Parts: sequence; C-alpha cells; structure tokens
Amino acid sequence: MRTLAVALADAGATRRAGAALGAALTPGMVVTLAGDLGAGKTTLARGVLSGCGWAGPVKSPSFALVEHYPLSNLYLYHFDFYRFDEPGEWDDAGFADCFRDDSVCLVEWPERVASRLPAADVAISLAYAGPEHEGRTLDAVATTEAGERCLSAIAAAMGVAR
Ligand SMILES: Nc1ncnc2c1ncn2[C@@H]1O[C@H](COP(=O)(O)OP(=O)(O)O)[C@@H](O)[C@H]1O
Ligand SMILES: [Mg+2]
Repeated sequence: MRTLAVALADAGATRRAGAALGAALTPGMVVTLAGDLGAGKTTLARGVLSGCGWAGPVKSPSFALVEHYPLSNLYLYHFDFYRFDEPGEWDDAGFADCFRDDSVCLVEWPERVASRLPAADVAISLAYAGPEHEGRTLDAVATTEAGERCLSAIAAAMGVAR
C-alpha cells in the first residue's frame, strides 16, 4: 500500500506501530518521522528498534543528533535534527556516510536537513489527535516497494482495513 492512516490511541499503540515497521525494514531503507515536539517520533523509533530485536536502551538523539545500533543484519542510525542549525555540520559529521546499502536510517525532523537527505522509502507524519490531544494520528506515504511492504505490515499489526 502507498498511503496509510492510523489512529494511535496511546503510547503503546505508537510503539506497536513502530515494532511492526521495524520487523518489516530491510537494509538500505530511509524512513522519515515528521511531527511537532511531543508528537511521538521517538516513541515510534523505540518501537522500531524493539521490532528489529534491539533489547537495550534507546536514547533520544537530540543532543548528539545521531545514535547508532549494531543490529544482527544491519546498522540502524536514529537521527534527530531538531537542533541542526549549522549547514557545515552535515559534512563535518559525515552524516552522508550513514546512508548505505547495509544501514537503515530513521530521521526525526527531516525538514531541517531536507536539501541533504537522500530520498525516503517511507515518510511518516505524527500529529496530536482527539479533543484533549490525548492520542495521535499516523499518516505515511511509501515511495518504494520496500516502503509499501512496511505500510502493509503496520496496517496488519494495527488492524487497519486495506
Ligand atoms: N499515541 C499516543 N497517544 C498519547 N501519547 C503518546 C502517543 N505516542 C506517544 N505519546 C507520548 O508523547 C510523549 C512525547 O513522545 P516523544 O516520542 O518523545 O515525542 P517526539 O519524539 O515526537 O518529540 C511521550 O510521553 C509519549 O509517551
Ligand atoms: Mg524525539
């Protein structure tokens, strides 16, 4: 499926959606996570890592901009570009080298590095939902076949009709 919309009632639902995505990821993929502060991007990323079999801690990469995880079959890089403001930093930090055939890159705040970022297989947007903002909505667009398989996996896990 090319597009997907899912209601996420609570943080557990965000993690479950992330875990389904993580289990469906294949090496070489790029997934962007857009949404306001507190929308659930890092929660989703934690789910992704659990779905990839990572049992250790997952820090929000807001200070270092990137955290990396040596999984059994790939490297996962989790970026948070909220504090990215120095254009030279992309080259100085060697971020382009993280986007490889044997890695998966999960990118929070992709709009802050839009001109540098390689094309995403899946672009996810999270937003506040509900009268008291107690839940979230997830909207996703896939632009590759690998990305479409990920959306189908999330839909199946979350009981979304296809
Ligand atoms: N679907 C959801 N409904 C309600 N709260 C959620 C949901 N998903 C995540 N949260 C909560 O939102 C807060 C912020 O989440 P976080 O993942 O740190 O956001 P971001 O990385 O987008 O800034 C956390 O307390 C988290 O538990
Ligand atoms: Mg975050």
